[in-house]
Amino acid sequence: MKRMTRVGLITSGGDCQGLNAAIRGVGKALFQRLGKNVEIFGMYDGYRGLIDGDYKYMESSDFSGILTQGGTILGTSRQRYIPGKDIVDKDGNSLMPAMLDTYNRLNLDCLVIMGGNGTQKSAKLISDYGMNVVTLPKTIDNDIWGTDTTFGFQSAVDIATNVIDYIHSTASSHSRVFVVELMGRDAGWLTLNAGIASGADAILIPEIPYDIEKVADMIRARKEEGRGFSIVACAEGAVSIHDKILTEEESRRKRENNRFPAVSYAIADELQKLTGVETRVTVPGHYQRGGPPCPYDRVLATQFGTAAADLIVNKQYNRMVAIQDNRIISIPLEDAASKTKFLPKDHSMIQVARDIGICMGD
Ligand code: F6P
Repeated sequence: MKRMTRVGLITSGGDCQGLNAAIRGVGKALFQRLGKNVEIFGMYDGYRGLIDGDYKYMESSDFSGILTQGGTILGTSRQRYIPGKDIVDKDGNSLMPAMLDTYNRLNLDCLVIMGGNGTQKSAKLISDYGMNVVTLPKTIDNDIWGTDTTFGFQSAVDIATNVIDYIHSTASSHSRVFVVELMGRDAGWLTLNAGIASGADAILIPEIPYDIEKVADMIRARKEEGRGFSIVACAEGAVSIHDKILTEEESRRKRENNRFPAVSYAIADELQKLTGVETRVTVPGHYQRGGPPCPYDRVLATQFGTAAADLIVNKQYNRMVAIQDNRIISIPLEDAASKTKFLPKDHSMIQVARDIGICMGD
């Protein structure tokens, strides 16, 4: 008799479009390959389900009808972890024993963990603790090392582009400056792509500290040429040249005394003072992570899901599925977990933006 393969599914960290498509890809491909010799358990709310033993036994019908749904049918949460060391509760106690207990009680062969940067790092800790894992890279930030693209990213680019498209007409009617703040604390992939796609006049990303005078110069130059409105796409992690050189203590004090709720408001305030042009802010926020995945993400998440099933069937654990040069591959989890994929300052897309006259703030 063939041995049963038992798999736990986890969606962890911030949600994004394509999670259900990936869950579906893993489940359908496992049932296709292993038939009755596979059992799949969906953990509720990310690692919480594994910690608390809160899971659902998934039938093959659970993987149908979810391809286009946003969010995750399993729920998700963020878990505290100490980089390189442990996953802990609010009092700092290790949660690894509880996770291993559920893993052993269910007699699992492997966990499929779908997550962003933080999740790749915590998944590595879980694998170091003795549980087999296969991970899938998901995030609207596209900042996971070792993969050209993550699912969720393209859907968020579509939404962010659409937001700026809509802002264009009202900005132009009122001859106003609009600062549109897009998600991305550490990396500017989303802002750069949506900014180029929507014809933004300035794109401010965490990797290139901005000089507000340069942005104001661009707005004044456009005004002189007869275009009274300008669109500034800024990442939530955009930082000025002045703030970039602050010490940690100085940054902390600045944050405490900051009268603005987000960087876009500070930028808008300064630009209005410097240019005299009425300036408004738009922050689409979590809207960028919501709704159905775009077709590209549906396909990518399905490809990633089936590749994860292949790894499990072949007992190739502790790897992250990735796409490089349009080929679906897998890489050692430790590589993916060790770095963040920032936007290189000399990336060809940044050059494209500069080539068409977009102000990058420097
Ligand atoms: O990592 C995805 C992301 O959407 C970031 O772009 C953003 O900074 C962060 O998550 C927001 O996190 P939360 O959902 O916890 O507010």
